[in-house]
Amino acid sequence: MSNLQVITSLDRHQIQKKTSKKVNGHKYVKKIKRNKLRLNYIYNENCLDTMSKMSDDFIDMTVTSPPYDDMRSYSGNSFSEFESIAKELYRVTKKGGVVVWVVGDQTIKGNETGTSFKQALHFKDVGFDLFDTMIYLKPPRGAVGNNKTYWQTFEYMFVLSKGKPKTINPIVDRENKEARNGDSGTKRLHNGSLLRLKRGGYSKYGRRTNVWEYLIGKGHSASDKIAHEHPAIFPEKLAQDHIVSWSNKGDLVYDPFMGSGTTAKMATINDRKYIGSEISSEYCKVARRRLESVTSVMTLPAI
Ligand SMILES: C[S@@+](CC[C@H](N)C(=O)[O-])C[C@H]1O[C@@H](n2cnc3c(N)ncnc32)[C@H](O)[C@@H]1O
Repeated sequence: MSNLQVITSLDRHQIQKKTSKKVNGHKYVKKIKRNKLRLNYIYNENCLDTMSKMSDDFIDMTVTSPPYDDMRSYSGNSFSEFESIAKELYRVTKKGGVVVWVVGDQTIKGNETGTSFKQALHFKDVGFDLFDTMIYLKPPRGAVGNNKTYWQTFEYMFVLSKGKPKTINPIVDRENKEARNGDSGTKRLHNGSLLRLKRGGYSKYGRRTNVWEYLIGKGHSASDKIAHEHPAIFPEKLAQDHIVSWSNKGDLVYDPFMGSGTTAKMATINDRKYIGSEISSEYCKVARRRLESVTSVMTLPAI
């Protein structure tokens, strides 16, 4: 008989970790109770600390934008820290869960770092499938490195899945240029008889492509002003589009780099639960103020 204890009724939010040690050839197993994780809460800490409190297969989906290369002076996030984060994200993601990793590259002396590709490939190494390489298209910004390059206008959105995605709710809002109703007609055959023909139609809207375009900046990225107290937000609509595509109502959404709280706000508005990590206390305050306005609006009686 195995001397490993079976945890039969693990409270969804009560995290336990098992460690074992051998004494005189006997294996002893110790169960360590971990902190209870608060849902709909942003932890002011390194995401590795938050994830260490999560049991395996805990999160339905993650949508996040890490600090990339050293474009902004956050906490000095190195590639080795990225490797630990990727491994932990795989462990805490449910089977069939999805991680959306929104990232771009820095250009140093006309040479792009390629960190985004390295990260995508590393995610595959830790076990994720690269389900889709999507593009986040935005209005062109200053030429990178020098004025001789084409205008920089996109970032990657790597959609990584732990096996086959368990939830795919495609957004159907692409206007179909060939939209038309079905119709029918007749064609006279050689023998003089009439053949009835039916031509199928095309609906007005079709499934989106994997290039998603958003206007950015004040008045576009966020419906509130508080968000812009953070220097690198992604659009609310981008977070929402991924949340509704890869999760269902009631699911748990994680953002390890919560910044101004965009993911938390859009998870709340779309009836999902969330957990976030944000290393900067300043940005945590921004996110909490931003969320207060959403939750107070949401508790107002319907008109
Ligand atoms: C690109 S911003 C995210 C912005 C966010 N998507 C938004 O819309 O506001 C990245 C954030 O990650 C935070 N950060 C950097 N390293 C971190 C770490 N190891 N754990 C948690 N947060 C971290 C930074 O302080 C920064 O606010």
